[in-house]
Amino acid sequence: MFEARTVSRSFGKNRVLDRLSLKLEEHSFNALIGPSGSGKSVLLKILGGVDQPETGEVVSTSGDLGPNDRSLMFQEGALFDSLSVFDNVAFPLVRGNVPCASLPSKTLEDVHEKVESILRHVGLTKAAYKMPGQLSGGMRRRVSLARALVNRPRCVFLDDPTCGLDPVASSVIMDLICDLHAEYKPTMVLVSHDLRRLLPVAERIIALFEGEIVFSGPLADLVSSAPEEVRRFVSCRFDFGGKPLYVS
Ligand SMILES: Nc1ncnc2c1ncn2[C@@H]1O[C@H](COP(=O)(O)OP(=O)(O)OP(=O)(O)O)[C@@H](O)[C@H]1O
Ligand SMILES: [Mg+2]
Repeated sequence: MFEARTVSRSFGKNRVLDRLSLKLEEHSFNALIGPSGSGKSVLLKILGGVDQPETGEVVSTSGDLGPNDRSLMFQEGALFDSLSVFDNVAFPLVRGNVPCASLPSKTLEDVHEKVESILRHVGLTKAAYKMPGQLSGGMRRRVSLARALVNRPRCVFLDDPTCGLDPVASSVIMDLICDLHAEYKPTMVLVSHDLRRLLPVAERIIALFEGEIVFSGPLADLVSSAPEEVRRFVSCRFDFGGKPLYVS
């Protein structure tokens, strides 16, 4: 189990998360939904270990969390523009020791194997030595995704990986995420505003409203028993086969 325990985070007087607790089952596929500004990215950064909560803690009950056990794909993609696609993806493997060409040959071989394998997965083999500035938005997202997964971390947090992409590019990314989850089953939390694609594939939906988790459960429970604000939020973005989920 991966857990956030009474986690709080403020920016000045803005208390974004207030003693929030959350449990994630090992290997589960979780969707994190909520209105813009509700604290999804703040929470994901804390879960991913790139930001620290002011109170509370993030723990794994199935062993210590090492630096390679979790990774975060940032909402903006956050590629290093001066590094090639290959070096961007290799970054977590070599801990910033780039360019990779300067590494000992055994390490280099291992890095090549892993980076080439994940680049094949995301369909970017031919773009390995391009620079991020030469790529389309969808390709850049695939590079970020490859970087988040190259280490096969136990826990993966993906922050709005399809944001700003057209429906086709967005669909490619969502399919890749589902395939990669099915393949090695990391504990995963995925934030997306594309609820049509996200809700049917998530095992559990976590709704964050104004920094509080107001619902957590499978889609069937969301339909039957989520608070009204969650059903209203979802019903504008997701078609339940013509059935009204919320009637005002
Ligand atoms: N570095 C920061 N400095 C100050 N305020 C911040 C910072 N990061 C986030 N916030 C504030 O925290 C709140 C939650 O922001 P967050 O980015 O988590 O929202 P979100 O749910 O991810 O929204 P979106 O769906 O638009 O991505 C907002 O009020 C935001 O202004
Ligand atoms: Mg966000």
